[in-house]
Amino acid sequence: MQRLIRKLKPEDLIPITEIEQRAFTNPWPAEAFYGPYFEYSRILELEGKLCGYIFFHVIMDEAVILNFAIDPAKQGQGHGKYLLVESLKELNQSGCTHFYLDVRESNETAIKLYEKQGFCALGRRKHYYSNPDEDAIMMGLVYEPGRNNHDPRI
Ligand SMILES: CC(C)(COP(=O)(O)OP(=O)(O)OC[C@H]1O[C@@H](n2cnc3c(N)ncnc32)[C@H](O)[C@@H]1OP(=O)(O)O)[C@@H](O)C(=O)NCCC(=O)NCCS
Repeated sequence: MQRLIRKLKPEDLIPITEIEQRAFTNPWPAEAFYGPYFEYSRILELEGKLCGYIFFHVIMDEAVILNFAIDPAKQGQGHGKYLLVESLKELNQSGCTHFYLDVRESNETAIKLYEKQGFCALGRRKHYYSNPDEDAIMMGLVYEPGRNNHDPRI
């Protein structure tokens, strides 16, 4: 299987919006994907077809995962882990050492995936999500030079 991670192109926004609608109960509107997040986002292609995406907000050595999804038809096959791990590695190589994200408390798949990469729960945002109303778990990961990256020190 040909699997490729690449930068975002303007023509990706239509397939991204379609996956977003299928992957989330409270999807981002199309316009939310335009603008400053372009630079720090990565697309996953399988056999030449867009199957996933991850969007980051980066300030100095900190990166926040804003949005991350794999096409529901392709979930559970290792693609999310691949996109996450490769993106974190790339950002770490360019100087990011602190990573943060919010995740629905019921999203066991995502929470397991993040924990396996070394993320730890940092706190909770009450009623952060709608449709359905739910708390967010805030998670974080710190990479330290010379340490095992799966042994976070937060
Ligand atoms: C979360 C998401 C990106 C993961 O991508 P994926 O391709 O489905 O996940 P993978 O197949 O790479 O699995 C990665 C890990 O997730 C966990 N996982 C996958 N499927 C799971 C399931 N059904 N139940 C519990 N954990 C599961 C496992 O820990 C797995 O690691 P392992 O294979 O080493 O055991 C994807 O499921 C998705 O797009 N979900 C909807 C949108 C979403 O929730 N985004 C994250 C918002 S914070």
